[in-house]
Parts: sequence; structure tokens; C-alpha cells
Amino acid sequence: MPPTRFQGSKRKLAGWIVGQIAGLHFDTVLDAFGGTGAVAFEFKRLGKCVAYNDLLRFNHWIGTAIIENGTDRLTRADIDAVRTIDPSRTYDDLIARTFADIYFTDDENRWLDVAVQNISAMSNRRRQALACYALFQSALAKRPYNLFHRRNLYMRSANVTRTFGNKVTWDRPFDLHFRRFAEQANACVFDNGRPCRALNRDACDVPGSFDLVYIDPPYVNARGTGVDYHHFYHFLEGLVDYPRWAERIDYASRHRRLLPMESPWTSPSTIHAAFRRVFERFADSILVVSYRSDGVPTIDELQAMLKRCKRDVRVIEHARYQYVLSTNRRSHEVLLIGC
Ligand SMILES: C[S@@+](CC[C@H](N)C(=O)[O-])C[C@H]1O[C@@H](n2cnc3c(N)ncnc32)[C@H](O)[C@@H]1O
Repeated sequence: MPPTRFQGSKRKLAGWIVGQIAGLHFDTVLDAFGGTGAVAFEFKRLGKCVAYNDLLRFNHWIGTAIIENGTDRLTRADIDAVRTIDPSRTYDDLIARTFADIYFTDDENRWLDVAVQNISAMSNRRRQALACYALFQSALAKRPYNLFHRRNLYMRSANVTRTFGNKVTWDRPFDLHFRRFAEQANACVFDNGRPCRALNRDACDVPGSFDLVYIDPPYVNARGTGVDYHHFYHFLEGLVDYPRWAERIDYASRHRRLLPMESPWTSPSTIHAAFRRVFERFADSILVVSYRSDGVPTIDELQAMLKRCKRDVRVIEHARYQYVLSTNRRSHEVLLIGC
């Protein structure tokens, strides 16, 4: 898997996670909160029959590109076509009109308007998914903090000493980013000989049964603050719903976020029940849960909840892992395995 700056990505931990469960017998796997697909990808490499799932539509395109897709790659003509204005078409300029001075420059916004509409016109769904993947990675690479949580384009031009980020990467044209990420996306495509698929549901609503379910939900920290993925990545979610984007924007927000979406996973008062629901839904499967040692619920609470539906529950700590951009050295990564 190529590097990605998605919050909570398990790319660097996927080998460790899969190594901890290597001795268990399972063939069908659900990655219920798939994100970048890093863990699903590792299962796919192991030859498992993998279902990737994520509630956000942009993530579902990532799962389609690198988990479900085992055959199709972007051609050079596809890549060129994404950035080329087709004179026979009329293009909307929604991004240029709506997001001036918020995330990208005017030229960059116009580039995005064209690219997203050209991608929507692609006829092959899998190649379209690879193009989406490259588009998302390009947009994230050009954002301070790799997020869309603030109106902070000014950070790219401010003449200040920076302790983070990379101005060269932020200012590199979309065209160059897109080509590089398209090649990276192509390099991820392989067929493991098994039917793999990508789903776009609430984790509890995924149909079917699986030998093993991997659960890596949003995390609520010790202060009770949750990670709201819908807010952090609303711009990517808008890109994949371009025709309806304008009507979904919260115009009262300075950074033109999407209208907020309630989630039980972002609040300390509702997250316990959310864990219980997902454990009950997949009680017949081996349950593997990733969480942080200083989160809400605590690891002891999670262990107790798992014990209600699983006889044998193991807790394994990874003492040294620290997330990108995180300064929290007290918290560490934990894996709970219920069989
Ligand atoms: C911690 S991240 C997962 C990271 C992933 N394991 C990776 O390696 O990239 C949590 C993910 O859960 C997704 N999510 C949030 N609520 C969800 C729900 N109710 N059902 C399914 N996915 C959800 C978010 O969109 C986010 O991608």
C-alpha cells in the first residue's frame, strides 16, 4: 500500500495486526470500518475472501479501486482525459464558485471542477474508482494537516516559519500529483483469485456472515473528543456527490462543510452502545478490534463487552506506535481478539 495521510490509517500497523491473528482459521473477512483499505489489503494479500466496508462514499470508491478491483488499471489516455477539457461538453464551476479562498487557489479549484466531471463521465467503474483514488490523494497532499476541517488556504502563502507540512508538496500542481497517485493506484491492483468486494453501509447493516470481522471504528479520546470523519473529509465526500453537493452544504459554516451527520461513534455518551451493537451483530464471527489505550471506552470495558459474546478474549498492546501528526506519546495501539 502506498503512503496515505488519512487519520487513523493502519497502513504501518497492518502487518502487525494480521500477524497477531495469523494462527486463527478463517477464510471470509469483513473489514467493517475500512478507511484507506490498508488492513483489507493485507487480508487480500493473504488470499482471503475480503469484504471492505465504509460508511463514507469516498472511502467506498477507495475500497472499489484497490480491494474489489483485481484486474483494471488506468491507461495513459485515461489519465490525460481527466485533466483535459472536452469542447463538446459544458462544465459546471461549482468548486470555483463555492470554495474560493477556502482550501485551494482559483486555478486549482477550476482544475478540480474539470477533473471531477471528467471522472464522472468514465464508463468503466473500476478505472473510475482508481481515478477517484488518485484525485483524493492529490487533494489531501495539497492540504495543510491533510484535512478539510478549517478554512486555511492562507497557511500555504503565509510567510512564516513552519514546523509541519511541506510547502513544495502543497504548491505542486494537481496535474503532477494526479499522475503520480494514478501510478500508485495502478500498482495496488492485483487479483488474489478470490471474490473481493467493497460495500458502503453502516457497519451494523452489512449483510451476510463472515469467519472474521475486523473492527477499527472512529476513536473517542480520554477527553471525550471523537474523530468526526464526515467533517474532516467532507470535501472528498462532496467530490463524489458533485451533482447534489451544493444542496448538501452547510452555508452557515465558514469552511462550507457538508450538513453534519449524527454518528454514535463520535461521542463518549453513545460510543459504548455503538460497540455493543456491532459486537452483537457479528457475535458469530471471530472479532478483532483495534483501539487506543487511552480511549473511551477503556480497554477493560471493551474486553468486558467482548466477553459477553466471546469465550476467549485476548488483549495485545503495541507499545511503540505513534500516529502521523499525533503528539500523544502516552497512548498506544491495542488489539483485542475475541474467539
Ligand atoms: C479509524 S478509521 C479506519 C481506518 C482503517 N482501518 C485504515 O487503515 O485506514 C474509521 C473509519 O470508519 C468509518 N466509519 C465511521 N462510522 C462508520 C459506520 N457507522 N459504519 C462504517 N464505517 C464507519 C470512517 O469513515 C473511517 O473511515
